[in-house]
Amino acid sequence: GTARPADLIIFGGTGDLAMRKLLPALYHSHRDGRLHADSRVIALSRGGLDDADYRGKVDAEVRPALSGGEGWDGFLRRLHHRTVDIAAPEGWQGVAGLLDGHEDRDRIFYLASPPMTFGAFCRGAREAGLVTPLSRVVLEKPLGRDLASAQAINDEVGAIFDESQIFRIDHYLGKETVQNLLVLRFANAFLEPIWNSLWIDHVQITVAETVGTPGRRGYYDQAGALRDMVQNHLLQLLCLVAMEPPSRNDREAVRDEKVKVLQSLRPIVGSEVDRFTVRGQYTAGRADGAEVPGYLDEPDKNQPTAESLRVETFAAVRAEVRNWRWAGVPFYLRSGKRLPARRSEIVVQFKDVPHAIFPGASPNRLVLRLQPSEGIHLRLMAKEPGAGEVVLRPVPLSLSFADTFSARVPDAYERLLMDVMSGNPTLFMRRDEVEAAWRWIDPIMDHWNGSGMLPEPYPAGTAGPAGAHELLARSDRAWHEEDLP
Ligand code: BG6
Repeated sequence: GTARPADLIIFGGTGDLAMRKLLPALYHSHRDGRLHADSRVIALSRGGLDDADYRGKVDAEVRPALSGGEGWDGFLRRLHHRTVDIAAPEGWQGVAGLLDGHEDRDRIFYLASPPMTFGAFCRGAREAGLVTPLSRVVLEKPLGRDLASAQAINDEVGAIFDESQIFRIDHYLGKETVQNLLVLRFANAFLEPIWNSLWIDHVQITVAETVGTPGRRGYYDQAGALRDMVQNHLLQLLCLVAMEPPSRNDREAVRDEKVKVLQSLRPIVGSEVDRFTVRGQYTAGRADGAEVPGYLDEPDKNQPTAESLRVETFAAVRAEVRNWRWAGVPFYLRSGKRLPARRSEIVVQFKDVPHAIFPGASPNRLVLRLQPSEGIHLRLMAKEPGAGEVVLRPVPLSLSFADTFSARVPDAYERLLMDVMSGNPTLFMRRDEVEAAWRWIDPIMDHWNGSGMLPEPYPAGTAGPAGAHELLARSDRAWHEEDLP
């Protein structure tokens, strides 16, 4: 376990993220002995629950989704609930009562709530005297909806917490394959010399989901795929692929290199947005073997509005990193809901051999598969066995994490929560990173909003709008759609 006990205070403690991700992650850490015996989880919401109500709710909603329940009762005893309404200062007394006298503990405020509440929450916590020198704050995405709102949130939170106390989460950075990408690149000698525009033709980053957005209209109409996925998860993956080798594996060295990548992204502005980006919205179709409605007809308590018509559930962008290593290498990013398969991967497509002596060779390709089955696949050319003519065939050199390591692959949130508790911010986004990402996204968003054009429709269960295909086909390239073992 960690050296000191910690109090983890989750604002939004009855919400979807807490129930689906945070509590299961905390339970696993508890079960595996990584939580100090005295550490507590204090959920805050407006819900008016007491500790027993909350434990009952978690028992009913979280427990069934877990496999095995060793130590479950001990875990429940760590949980508390206090009612806090950020609009009502007196509401803080309940939580203050739990925290008073525990100033020697690490105190972590986890804001699993909409970003417009971040500033008010931090001010409320300070006015209630709850912010101690050992306090940290975790901010969930989305961090604003554009550069200006992100800066405003960063200023508000920054008025109460020092940057070193602020942990901006991007859960993709907690995924095993994502961390492995750094090990693959910087703990092996053979890749780095060819990791550049001399040898690499282009890079593709795909995060495809089969899920739609039922019940999420309130959030999703305001977000869309570009803000929900590209601004954070996909750009973070791009950074890890493109960054220069850091001099040390430490918080500032790694983040310094990532922010340089974001600052090197070629801005996409004005009419270039039409050429280098694609947006789509799913219509009725099929997903996971069943008929599903289109985005506009998703069941939801909110009726579709003019915003709903314009919001993209699929986005693709052709990005460029303008520096010596990557000049001229396109980075194609795409993400969408209701695509044919849940598949997240980074594809590094190498160039043709400089001089071909065999007909039929195709270039090497390295695929880092994040989801569903985590692994690394390198496509090589080999000769088919036979005494006749030399026939080439692409063959995969495959590493499956499940087959190679028998250990359970922890969920991204487990790693990230443990990092917050031990105070390690390497896998969290620094203020300048988030803002650099928004600086690049803003002009794309502005052009989309100003153009009056609607996203291209694509039926649920198909590979996104035709424009996404065109984006690569224009330069004789194609998206990687291969099923790997
Ligand atoms: C979240 C987005 O950040 O990531 C969701 O808000 C998306 O829309 C989710 O479904 C995908 O995460 P994962 O870990 O399931 O790939």
